[in-house]
Amino acid sequence: MGDTLEADFEHIIERHERIEPRDWMPERYRATVVRQVAQHAHSEIIGMQPEGNWLTRAPSLRRKAILLAKVQDEAGHGLYLYSACETLGVTRAELTEKLISGKQKYSSIFNYPTLSYADVGTIGWLVDGAAICNQVPLCRTSYGPYGRAMIRICKEESFHQRQGYELLMTMMGGTDEQRAMVQESVDRFWWPALMMFGPPDTGDMASPTGHTAQSMAWGIKRDTNDDLRQKFVDMSVPQAEALGVTLPDPALTWNAERGHYDFGQPDWEEFAAVIAGSGPCNAQRIAHRKRAHDEGAWVREAATAFAARSVVEEDR
Ligand code: ACO
Repeated sequence: MGDTLEADFEHIIERHERIEPRDWMPERYRATVVRQVAQHAHSEIIGMQPEGNWLTRAPSLRRKAILLAKVQDEAGHGLYLYSACETLGVTRAELTEKLISGKQKYSSIFNYPTLSYADVGTIGWLVDGAAICNQVPLCRTSYGPYGRAMIRICKEESFHQRQGYELLMTMMGGTDEQRAMVQESVDRFWWPALMMFGPPDTGDMASPTGHTAQSMAWGIKRDTNDDLRQKFVDMSVPQAEALGVTLPDPALTWNAERGHYDFGQPDWEEFAAVIAGSGPCNAQRIAHRKRAHDEGAWVREAATAFAARSVVEEDR
């Protein structure tokens, strides 16, 4: 019986079809999907903070409406992803507890501060651009609810990326001071954006566990971290040229033989420190999330009481 179930699972994976919540799956597959989707959901929720910081200081009503829509989209992405995770037998409450207690990670990128309004544009262009590069292949991930959530998320991420690029383009057409703001922001975000794809494929960095080989064999991940990073660099260089900004990497050159740009490596020690909790904003991000969660306790209690009363009334 067990052998047949496992063979069915392997068959689905080989044919690049979807594993659905009621299908049998190895426990390690389930745990890996929960780990990745939870980390992704937490990233969306924590990712509301760096840009939310600028909502009350947007330079115009138009910019404020765009930013508000974007931050709300991120809340929505987090909720779809928590729901996808719940189909695997974990609750959103458990996942939130693991985020707040530091047992589950969220993307390194959201531990960097947003110091000027240009950062809203740079996050859209580079951070959401990197997210799209990483997430479009995830629309074909083997776990059905995750892949279907990714389709809608990618459409919205595409709007996020464009609004960022358009904001930077507008600033680059402005004053010297505005152009300098954009360059300063790109200088700060370029390397952390490259780190979003995770550690190098060689796995020789001190801490990472290197899930890629197994996750690709199961079709959870479709590409390696380095392949996606290369795709992002190749995509970003002509965009930087069109904007008129310089990417802060002296090693960045076109390699005609490979048909790709060569580029330098991010500071992997900094990455290890950030994912271990010592980045510039880790403590602030988690404290803010915990405060919001604690302050929302009465809403959860009221909703639970209301739901319980509705069930009793329906039973009458
Ligand atoms: N930030 C924080 N932790 C990271 C990051 C990162 N950028 N990249 C890798 N890690 C962690 C992994 O979670 C893993 O730690 P763990 O074993 O404690 O869970 C470790 O570093 C080793 O990395 P990998 O073996 O490469 O891990 P994995 O196979 O999970 O790949 C990746 C990492 C590429 C981020 C993958 O999980 C993924 O594609 N996730 C979905 C996309 C996502 O989460 N995006 C969030 C940011 S985008 C946005 O919200 C706008």
